[in-house]
Amino acid sequence: MIKQIEKYLEEVKNFNSNDLKEIDAFRIKFISKKGILNQLFAEFKNVPNEEKKLFGQKINELKQAATEKVNGLKEAAENNNDEQAGELDLTRPGYPTEIGSRHPISIVKNQIIEIFKRIGFNVSEGPEIEDDWHNFTALNLPEYHPARDMQDTFFLQQNPDWLLRTHTSSVQTRYMEAHQPPIRTISPGRVYRNEDISARSHCIFHQVEGLYIDKGVSFADLKQTLLFFTKEMFGKSKIRLRPSYFPFTEPSAEVDIYWGLETETDYRITKGTGWLEIMGAGMVDPNVLKNMNIDPEEYTGFAFGMGIERIAMLLYQIPDIRMFYENDIRFLKQFESIV
Ligand code: DAH
Repeated sequence: MIKQIEKYLEEVKNFNSNDLKEIDAFRIKFISKKGILNQLFAEFKNVPNEEKKLFGQKINELKQAATEKVNGLKEAAENNNDEQAGELDLTRPGYPTEIGSRHPISIVKNQIIEIFKRIGFNVSEGPEIEDDWHNFTALNLPEYHPARDMQDTFFLQQNPDWLLRTHTSSVQTRYMEAHQPPIRTISPGRVYRNEDISARSHCIFHQVEGLYIDKGVSFADLKQTLLFFTKEMFGKSKIRLRPSYFPFTEPSAEVDIYWGLETETDYRITKGTGWLEIMGAGMVDPNVLKNMNIDPEEYTGFAFGMGIERIAMLLYQIPDIRMFYENDIRFLKQFESIV
């Protein structure tokens, strides 16, 4: 019996493999339920008493040797596999990482924000579901004012006092309610109008509103601010202000930039004039200041509002406003390189 165990010990000692399957077969042979060790333990009761001590020592020796062998070989084999898997070919080109792209509306919005931030404007936002007061009445557009028809409005069925804001000018009134002058803020956001959808107009679009209120602000400040903006944004340094009408500004103007007539597209988008309208602007009407509890004798200010889609269409030659909202990946991918 003892001799047999010595033979097994020899076998264990000599066993070597780096193949996980082979190692497992070895484990089953010796350590599993029906393995050699358990068979030997079962023999124990048949061993004569005087041999029991030595027999016991020898099987324990065998058990320890087999267990250590299996664990040691297994670990070595696994590490070996890891090393093979982890072998890197550092000369191979890297896998390209797919990057997303910003939406053109966001690109243009961020550019506008960045330009106005440089001259001390902060960014403010307001709700898209607005009440009549902030969108119309406080902006010098009382009920039955004919200019309300300038913007076809979506009203909320639950409460006709609520509506989807028709312009970001509503953020002006929210901001003046919460802050005292000096005020220098721009408010980007989504606006809604009940209009037929076509290549040129949509029921959802985006605007950026600007508001500047302080002591002694004049029309010259408005002109200079807008000139700075158009130079930075478009690299164009000629603008003109045409008299216009908005209920919330007096005087009011529409702002054109001189785009030029160098290409065929220039002719088309400027209708052959070289001039392009980009925003509405004016001096904040004293009635608006009064509505917001700001004393018009002490403070004056200017405001302006522009459409983001229109500017993005100009800059990127996008022919149809609906493309902004279709989420066609072939369209969006073209803006990958612009941050
Ligand atoms: N709210 C006007 C619109 O949606 C744009 C506008 C014009 C905003 C003149 C202004 C402004 O702040 O002074 O058409």
